[in-house]
Amino acid sequence: MIRPILRMGDPRLLQRSLPVERLGTAELRDLLADMRETMIAAHGAGLAAPQIGVLQRVVIFGFEHNDRYPDAEPVPYTEIVNPLLTPIGPELEEDWEGCLSVPGLRGRVPRHARLRYTGFDPQGKRIDREVSGFHARVVQHECDHLDGILYPFRMRDLRLLGYTDVLFPDADVVDE
Ligand code: NI
Repeated sequence: MIRPILRMGDPRLLQRSLPVERLGTAELRDLLADMRETMIAAHGAGLAAPQIGVLQRVVIFGFEHNDRYPDAEPVPYTEIVNPLLTPIGPELEEDWEGCLSVPGLRGRVPRHARLRYTGFDPQGKRIDREVSGFHARVVQHECDHLDGILYPFRMRDLRLLGYTDVLFPDADVVDE
């Protein structure tokens, strides 16, 4: 079922989500099915459970091609429960970022260039990956939602926040 996506200003987006205590449940499976359907319908690169009002530590992301980030390299579709991020090295990268909860806008956000992430798939199988580039960026963005952090809060210069169609008038970037 496609669920409404909460938008910035909703206090639920500012809360810290709780760890999932039981894996492999029908409840978790149904939540992930709704998240996937909602993300695809919105052309999203990722989605966190609190964005549909469920304050649990569950995120999804991934795409072969994404209309919101047409230049991004593919990221494998991933469902991750109770994720934990560990940056690798001090290097930060700044790039444009958007959010389905902040529709129509993009901003320059610094993120760790490389990181390791661990967690569990919905059946309880352990996930352990080292990533960089857009994959690293999208994981950091989605996991921030679990701590009530939206990308503008991470920006160092709010002059670099703007409307997608003004920032990229000639590009074929979807952001409704
Ligand atoms: Ni987001």
